[in-house]
Amino acid sequence: MTTVKIIEDGAAIALDMAGVTSRYHAIWLRDNAWDEGTRASGNGQRLIALSDIPEGIAIQGAEVAGDTLTLTFAPTGERIDYDLNWLLAHCYDLPQMSEKGWVSDETIVWDAAMRDHIPQADFNQVKTDNEALAAWLDGVVQFGFGKLSGGPVQEGALFEVADLFGYVRETNYGRHFEVRTEVNPSNLAFTGLGLQAHTDNPYRDPVPTVQILYCLENSAEGGENMVVDGFACAQRLQREDPRGFHLLSSYCARFEFAGSEGVCLRSRRPMIELAPDGALVGVRFNNRSAAAITDVPYADMAAYYAAYRRLGQIIDDPDMEITFKLEPGECFVVDNTRVLHARKGYSGSGSRWLQGCYADMDGLRSTHAALVQEIVKAAE
Ligand code: FE2
Repeated sequence: MTTVKIIEDGAAIALDMAGVTSRYHAIWLRDNAWDEGTRASGNGQRLIALSDIPEGIAIQGAEVAGDTLTLTFAPTGERIDYDLNWLLAHCYDLPQMSEKGWVSDETIVWDAAMRDHIPQADFNQVKTDNEALAAWLDGVVQFGFGKLSGGPVQEGALFEVADLFGYVRETNYGRHFEVRTEVNPSNLAFTGLGLQAHTDNPYRDPVPTVQILYCLENSAEGGENMVVDGFACAQRLQREDPRGFHLLSSYCARFEFAGSEGVCLRSRRPMIELAPDGALVGVRFNNRSAAAITDVPYADMAAYYAAYRRLGQIIDDPDMEITFKLEPGECFVVDNTRVLHARKGYSGSGSRWLQGCYADMDGLRSTHAALVQEIVKAAE
């Protein structure tokens, strides 16, 4: 049983649905009407600007019949129907998050203990079965990371992975890049250098938000990949050192890459990025491309460096990482705004050849959401 009451002299209504009361403002309701004068019937885009709605818009009549709320607005006299289920799904009269560093409901923050739960799927299955693809993408959205196995062992196969959910982002490194080392078999002591966990290309703005790394050869000893959840590390820093978290999220770091001719990439962003409401939205961490930090005042610089060091220690803690060795035909995808990746040193005879490329999370999220809608519709 749903009831509606006009409150605040028509400036808002209070809807009581199943004992829960939610308030909605007249201006919000008029702006979010779904009648054909407000929204284009084909693509759903809004046809009006806020300036088309009178400043003093108010509600003078409100009634509920079934799943429909009908409102009459003053001074325009417009009568507009609203779907109660849509209103319930878009309710904003909720307790607000006051703590910084929170993550959305769709995010699962993880560490080494979650190693058996990482999203994994078979390449051929996700390629041919939309439900399997939706389930895997769901995991990538939640974990910021996912693995695929059983793919073709051929150059350029990584583009087929990008095609599953979006588009390759070309950069000055090209459409893709090679990560290839021949380990010299005559010198078994040779060790390929390990790389500390990092996010890629923090000197771009925006950064590439997805990275795909696809394995074609991996017969060298070592060379495992590691992934670390940057959100888990940022939240751990916040618990252990709230002031350090505050410093890394309040001041901008600087990143730079000018290592090839004609390229001079620079960005100025915090290592831990928060939305204005405190939501954790991104982590940038890369010792190789950190530039001189000049946006932290003298009084805070020593403490800022201590926090930077502590964040690095947390990132390097084996309790935070998931390690795996990619076999030829396997690949992984990371949300590069959140999940750091690393490679262990490698040695001995054999070779290691990965191909990498960038894509974007908006395309991945879009494909995921559209697939979910399609699956739900088909089930109805
Ligand atoms: Fe990298």
